[in-house]
Amino acid sequence: MINVAILGFGVVGSGAAQVLADNAAVIEKNLGKKVAVKRILDLREFPDSPFGHLVTHDFNDILNDKDITVVAEMMGGSHPAYDFTKACLTAGKHVVTSNKEVVARFGAELLDLAAKNGVRYLFEASVGGGIPVIRPMVNDLASNKIEKVDGILNGTTNYILTQMIAGATFEDALKEAQAKGYAEANPAADVEGLDAARKIVILAALSFGTLLSPDQIHCEGITKLTLADVEVAKAFGCSLKLIGHTEQVAGRVLAMVSPRMVPLTNPLSGIADVFNGILVDANMVGEVMFYGAGAGKLPTASAVVADIIDIVAHMGQDGVRAPKFTVAAEQDYADFGAYTCRSCFSFWQEDGAAEKITAVFGDVKTVTVGNRIALIADAMTEKEAAEKAAKTGLTLLSRIRVLG
Ligand code: HSE
Repeated sequence: MINVAILGFGVVGSGAAQVLADNAAVIEKNLGKKVAVKRILDLREFPDSPFGHLVTHDFNDILNDKDITVVAEMMGGSHPAYDFTKACLTAGKHVVTSNKEVVARFGAELLDLAAKNGVRYLFEASVGGGIPVIRPMVNDLASNKIEKVDGILNGTTNYILTQMIAGATFEDALKEAQAKGYAEANPAADVEGLDAARKIVILAALSFGTLLSPDQIHCEGITKLTLADVEVAKAFGCSLKLIGHTEQVAGRVLAMVSPRMVPLTNPLSGIADVFNGILVDANMVGEVMFYGAGAGKLPTASAVVADIIDIVAHMGQDGVRAPKFTVAAEQDYADFGAYTCRSCFSFWQEDGAAEKITAVFGDVKTVTVGNRIALIADAMTEKEAAEKAAKTGLTLLSRIRVLG
């Protein structure tokens, strides 16, 4: 019997207990061992839960219990989640987590600490909810050099954008996402892009070995998008998505989050509702895409339990593959001003606007949607894009980057 402790009995934590109980037979069959929850740490009581009797309010009940070998941290937030993780790894307990905030901020240190203590720190559920993406990147793409990653990494914003395109208001769609357990405790982290920023820095670290700070990368959410932007995207044969992107620019790592127009020929364009998709471009295999439920209780919990199973399956074995991250120094960050991509510019429609656009952007296709005239320009740097928009002398209503 393998005894597991759960830190945080919220949406994902209670889901993990449910997955372990409901799928106990299949887990035992796949693993040849029973895995059960022994203790649960939470500030609250859960008198109506079948796991309520396992709840403790004292972390030491878990830390000092020698029978607990794997701890699943699903508390959310940096503290005390990070502190408890450190204590568990130092005490020789394996840790698995869904907590992208902790992995994005402290992943380098925690992976190092785990290695020093002969245990493992796994975080499959931290990116893409239930989608297997971390393990395939660490193991199955190990023969490849990763060129770039593009991903729809936040279920809440993808749900909101999908609902808005179907006619819902932003506020109603957000309320639904919260009711379904997709959104963060503070949904600003979803809609302002920070949740996706945390996830793209984790994917960047897996791709290039360097862990950037989510606070130091370019990050735009969906709050400024309007239905007019959606209409312009449609007119150009694109959908509108919040995309996390990472690549190397001149040997440095670039990671960013922003809305993008995604051409309908790109497989990310059709990903709707809470689903996420991660498109990895690697030098030998080419493009591979990982797709599935990006948030939600049982999908995310199933990824947490998959990490527990991985740990139990490899217990006592030497040389199990683990990623190693280096904390980024100032010079490891790519210059965002030099990042190059295509952009869709929407200007206020006025007499002579089409001529002014041609004078600056050349002979480009324009579309008129309501009070705006829009074009897609060839790839240019961020700096050039700002300069060209100003040079038209027109009122810029929005500039949305185009994927690919
Ligand atoms: N709030 C996150 C999302 C949860 O909507 O994607 C999963 O990380």
